[in-house]
Amino acid sequence: MAEPNWKNRTLFHGDNLRFLRAMNSESVDLIATDPPFNKNRDFHATPDSLAKGAKFQDRWSWEKDVHEEWVDEIKDDYPRLMEAIESARYAHSDGMGAYMCFMAVRLLAMRRVLKPTGSIYLHCDPTASHYLKAVMDAVFGWKNFQNEIVWCYGSGGASKRHYSRKHDAILFYAAGGGGIYSMLMTCGSLTHRRTNP
Ligand SMILES: C[S@@+](CC[C@H](N)C(=O)[O-])C[C@H]1O[C@@H](n2cnc3c(N)ncnc32)[C@H](O)[C@@H]1O
Repeated sequence: MAEPNWKNRTLFHGDNLRFLRAMNSESVDLIATDPPFNKNRDFHATPDSLAKGAKFQDRWSWEKDVHEEWVDEIKDDYPRLMEAIESARYAHSDGMGAYMCFMAVRLLAMRRVLKPTGSIYLHCDPTASHYLKAVMDAVFGWKNFQNEIVWCYGSGGASKRHYSRKHDAILFYAAGGGGIYSMLMTCGSLTHRRTNP
């Protein structure tokens, strides 16, 4: 395991791929990631926040958002991962495939920086959680999957056509499959605790 080449309690601002790729391998204990969900919507920063005026487009296009270099890397080095991406593209849309590609390169970078004793929590929702699970299995190994944590909201729009849509999902993987990490749920926030093996 490598020494971190980054300082604890540092906030990096910008595209996380750039920062992840600059971090030493196997230097991180815990990753909790709350990425875009592929909601096909624009998100605006709240007017009273430091990011006031910023906009994020959670819409994905294979032509505009996928870098050739990502596809080459995944095709050559991780063919099974490419199949998971292609199956999302085939079953859903080019946009879902593009979003999976965006996620896949970042998840590969996260796997590299994670210690063998580390773990990762990926927040997503039913828009893409099933495709992300296949991508996570290909990146972290299906045997390292620990839980799908269901985060249920109080209410969420039912209609005549469907039941209430009121949960997100958090996919939990242990990098080395050791299962020595546990989660505590406290007052709505998730706390991570290492337990004795
Ligand atoms: C689902 S939101 C999560 C927001 C945040 N966790 C919160 O609770 O307010 C996804 C966030 O990912 C950010 N994002 C999109 N692409 C990114 C990238 N390449 N690197 C880092 N963050 C990114 C978006 O700006 C957006 O704020």
